[in-house]
Amino acid sequence: MAVERTLSIIKPDATARNLTGKINAYLEDADLRFVAQKRVRLTREQAETFYGVHKERSFFNELVEYMTSGPVVVQVLEGENAVAKNREVMGATNPANADEGTIRKDFALNVQENSVHGSDSAENAAIEIAYFFAGTEIVG
Ligand code: PPS
Repeated sequence: MAVERTLSIIKPDATARNLTGKINAYLEDADLRFVAQKRVRLTREQAETFYGVHKERSFFNELVEYMTSGPVVVQVLEGENAVAKNREVMGATNPANADEGTIRKDFALNVQENSVHGSDSAENAAIEIAYFFAGTEIVG
């Protein structure tokens, strides 16, 4: 299986509850490695661009408001099959539908305050990683 990279974000609901370390342990336990990580406060413009693919959806403004409401931790994860593995550890978008033992089952509050983001394909992962990190900031 190929070694891949994916973009992960620990969202404001999780940073507010000081859960970064606990969430990172779930990721490391799944054999995902942090090859880059930084804590940032997204601007409205950054959030609108990052979530641009969802701009016609009813919740777009709420999502942008929420993602700019507090600090986030953006991360590059590396590992075999990292995109799918991260999505598996995250659990379903709505925590009500998330499997036992997933990050969202254990920590998410609702479909908006759902603690983590993960790229949904290798192609999008490359775009999302480049959006937040220079090549020199990623150390494998
Ligand atoms: S996914 O994971 O892309 O398949 O999920 P999707 O349902 O398409 O949701 C895309 C992102 O929008 C967030 N979301 C919402 N935010 C606020 N309110 C509502 N109702 C809502 N529904 C979905 C969801 O958490 C996804 O965020 P990311 O950061 O991509 O996980």
